Amino acid sequence: MNFDATNRWVGCFTQPADAKQMKHHVIRITVNGDRHTLAVAPHWTLVEVLREHLRLTGTKHGCGTGDCGACTVLLDGRSVNSCLTLAVEVDGREITTIEGIASSGGELHPVQDAFIAHGATQCGFCTPGMVVSSVQLLATNSRPEEQEIRHALGGNLCRCTGYTKIVEAIAAAATQGEEAEG
Ligand code: FES
Ligand code: FES
Repeated sequence: MNFDATNRWVGCFTQPADAKQMKHHVIRITVNGDRHTLAVAPHWTLVEVLREHLRLTGTKHGCGTGDCGACTVLLDGRSVNSCLTLAVEVDGREITTIEGIASSGGELHPVQDAFIAHGATQCGFCTPGMVVSSVQLLATNSRPEEQEIRHALGGNLCRCTGYTKIVEAIAAAATQGEEAEG
């Protein structure tokens, strides 16, 4: 277990001593189009499984308490905090992480292009979660108003950018998508 300076639990990066005795459950999940069968302990979170077992480290583990959105992934197309989602809960479901947002040929998603073009990333820690939330927003609302963009990012915290460039980037990606549709 890991505790911060105020003795607040901030995440579980090591298995408890009794982990070997703990019953594991077999789950089958699809992550970025790839099928996986995994034996998971009941307390393992989805972010732990993604990062530590599947080595998909693009998804970040920030607060561990549902406050920062750094761990955002798509679960059956809807954004969720993977730090608050138990691995056993996602049996049979489809997950998309930041590694699965670009096309299989490596072409960046318009949101990713727009983040680069608009300087919407600085340290980058929040960026995977921001991009995933933005992709879901544009999938459900192809031309969001500024307030709708800000609302959609309400669960994603950024300490660096001040959000303006992020909002501009998402609006630009939406415009680009609209132009592409003609
Ligand atoms: S790490 Fe999941 S919300 Fe912060
Ligand atoms: S770019 Fe640093 S936290 Fe958002």
